[in-house]
Amino acid sequence: MSLVHSSNIKFQTLAQSGRVILPSLLACNFANLERDIKELEEAGVQGLHLDIMDGHFVPNLSFGIPVVEAVRKITDLVLDVHLMLANPEEYFEVFKKAGADGITFHVESIADLESPGKNFARNGLAHSDSDSISNFIPHTISALQQIRKLGAASGLSLIPPTDVTVVEPFLSYCDNVLVMSVMPGFGGQEFDPSSKAKLAWLKNFASPEILRSIDGGVNQKTLEVCRDAGATGLVMGTAIFKNNQIKEQFSVLNATLHKERFQS
Ligand code: DX5
Ligand code: ZN
Repeated sequence: MSLVHSSNIKFQTLAQSGRVILPSLLACNFANLERDIKELEEAGVQGLHLDIMDGHFVPNLSFGIPVVEAVRKITDLVLDVHLMLANPEEYFEVFKKAGADGITFHVESIADLESPGKNFARNGLAHSDSDSISNFIPHTISALQQIRKLGAASGLSLIPPTDVTVVEPFLSYCDNVLVMSVMPGFGGQEFDPSSKAKLAWLKNFASPEILRSIDGGVNQKTLEVCRDAGATGLVMGTAIFKNNQIKEQFSVLNATLHKERFQS
């Protein structure tokens, strides 16, 4: 098995530092973005998750390039950019220039480009689809290679109805696999417990250098399930920013994340 070498040292350092919480800015107070980010830094956060939505791949819009640039200007934290876009490759370069350290796109977006009309973005991708859609595998590999070539860490994400085994041919090209535990598009949804088995599969089959991320509905309770199933990157929006007590929330959640399974 070949060793994974991320082309982004900051991201690689984060991925190797054990389990990490990546606060999702989608739930922050955008009128006080700088204040919230400073508070996260003081709390000891190592990286931020930035959700980019296009109203096509997901039924919602969020924020785009100027916000990523603005965040980059005020912090040195690792910026993990999650592209929920129908044409992600068109935006790799601009997001890298804006300051992304890691760029993640959806496996379903490439399947939709190669086999239009099936709406994999909503229905998910079965393992059999990945073999039958011609050019899906080389196209996805080439997209991951493009990200690394730009100097960012490469990430691949999958929605809840997609089979985790779909990512197998891509593991040696990935620095991050992002398992979605809600349908993407909105914060504050309920955690889908089927993602537990996906994390366990990744723990068995993905090289330990790859960040095993989970995104959606992760809170004090579901965090333990994710931790025990082998998640190493915990994306959390609502659970961090609710009640306007960022430092307190982060410290409680981070303590849970670093507790071992059978510790009393
Ligand atoms: C959803 C986004 C998530 C979201 C998580 O499409 O990808 O990152 O912000 O939010 P919570 O933690 O509130 O589920
Ligand atoms: Zn996300």
